[in-house]
Amino acid sequence: MARASGLRLQFRSVLIAGMALMIWIQALHAQSSNGLSPHYYHKSCPEALSIIKSGIEDAVKKEARIAASLLRLHFHDCFVKGCDASVLLDDTANFTGEKTAAPNKNSVRGFGVVDKIKSELEKKCPGVVSCADLLAVAARDSVVISGGPVWDVPLGRRDSRSASKNRATTNIPAPPQPIRHWKPNSNSKGSNSLGPGLVLSGGHSIGLSRCTSFKARLYNQTGNGKPDPTLDTTYLKQLRIVCPQNGTDDNQTVPLDPVTPFKFDVNYYKNIVASKGLLNSDEILYSTNGSKTAAYVKFYTTHTQAFFQQFAVSMIKMSNLSPLTGTRGEIRKNCRKMN
Ligand code: HEM
Ligand SMILES: *[C@@H]1O[C@H](CO)[C@@H](O)[C@H](O)[C@H]1NC(C)=O
Ligand SMILES: *[C@@H]1O[C@H](CO)[C@@H](O)[C@H](O)[C@H]1NC(C)=O
Ligand SMILES: *[C@@H]1O[C@H](CO)[C@@H](O)[C@H](O)[C@H]1NC(C)=O
Ligand SMILES: *[C@@H]1O[C@H](CO)[C@@H](O)[C@H](O)[C@H]1NC(C)=O
Ligand SMILES: *[C@@H]1O[C@H](CO)[C@@H](O)[C@H](O)[C@H]1NC(C)=O
Repeated sequence: MARASGLRLQFRSVLIAGMALMIWIQALHAQSSNGLSPHYYHKSCPEALSIIKSGIEDAVKKEARIAASLLRLHFHDCFVKGCDASVLLDDTANFTGEKTAAPNKNSVRGFGVVDKIKSELEKKCPGVVSCADLLAVAARDSVVISGGPVWDVPLGRRDSRSASKNRATTNIPAPPQPIRHWKPNSNSKGSNSLGPGLVLSGGHSIGLSRCTSFKARLYNQTGNGKPDPTLDTTYLKQLRIVCPQNGTDDNQTVPLDPVTPFKFDVNYYKNIVASKGLLNSDEILYSTNGSKTAAYVKFYTTHTQAFFQQFAVSMIKMSNLSPLTGTRGEIRKNCRKMN
């Protein structure tokens, strides 16, 4: 008996080692194919990573939520013309950026922290570290400080000299969008949609959402005057208190994961299984019985390490979306405006 289970255990660890290797190779491939490298600033700004890290630590001490906000900021950057810091550009009299696009307006945040870190970087290494790389590293550090996985961030992105409000409106998924319409890589190589999309939604393990992003579920999901039947009734009641039907302030916020709002863990998936996913886009991953995503959701509820590994791999993929390298773009001095 003991020997048999020992063998099984050995077999399992070989399997796990094999899987880890595959993930590692995938990650390596993702890193080397586009000119980005984790050691990009090794000589030109050796302090870059530690400056960003301590900037995140300071910011999180002041406000726990900021980690979530910075993770999301990187996502919203990458989905619009690639990870090029386009999301950071302010509107001016003759320029329209992405900040007023529907998925961003009154919602994305963290710009002040980015400014602060950038000014530290400029003090040490003027004109060297891009705002796009800052966002990618800040997202990683935010996940780490929240208790999530760590990964090496390929670096060497440059900053855009343009933005697209239009694409920010259409490319960033809205809450009612089923995951099948969400193809994270459709604007790059078109490969794999389901896996990364599903596991990256695990980012909702941390942070807050405004009432406006899910209120329809509480009162009038399909226009029949009824709440979303997939929502747990106790949870529904709690949410209705914060977001009254005829209330006028839909800026009120609730945690995306009420169990551990600022800890990066698998409670996000456990909530979904318990009919307590907050956003439609979360709930939809599970509620279609027999769907491929439902099996993953269930799997992740009990497999933290698998979730962490896949999340890290998928973050690298997302971070690698259409970087500007070589002489394309620029290294902005101020993340809010072009040089
Ligand atoms: C199906 C795709 C997704 C949809 C529909 C979606 C939608 C949303 C919405 C509606 C909010 C609340 C915003 C508000 O009310 O102000 C939110 C918050 C958030 N999202 Fe997503 N999201 C998606 C994917 C992702 C991904 C891929 C990540 C990161 C890997 C992510 C990270 C976050 C985080 C961390 C927050 C909380 C931000 C904060 O507290 O400031 N989301 N998302
Ligand atoms: C836009 O306005 C700024 C001043 O706000 C000016 O410096 C810049 O040259 C203008 N750009 C274009 C393309 O007109
Ligand atoms: C629910 O939505 C439908 C369609 O948008 C609308 O006609 C109806 O008045 C709404 N009901 C309530 C109670 O808000
Ligand atoms: C809110 O307004 C709707 C009509 O739009 C009404 O049917 C409903 O009873 C009101 N709810 C509350 C709690 O007053
Ligand atoms: C939400 O807050 C923004 C500013 O942060 C404000 O412009 C908007 O009117 C607010 N919306 C509501 C419904 O209170
Ligand atoms: C699907 O339905 C079966 C039988 O009703 C149930 O046992 C199972 O938990 C459901 N799975 C999901 C993912 O909802």
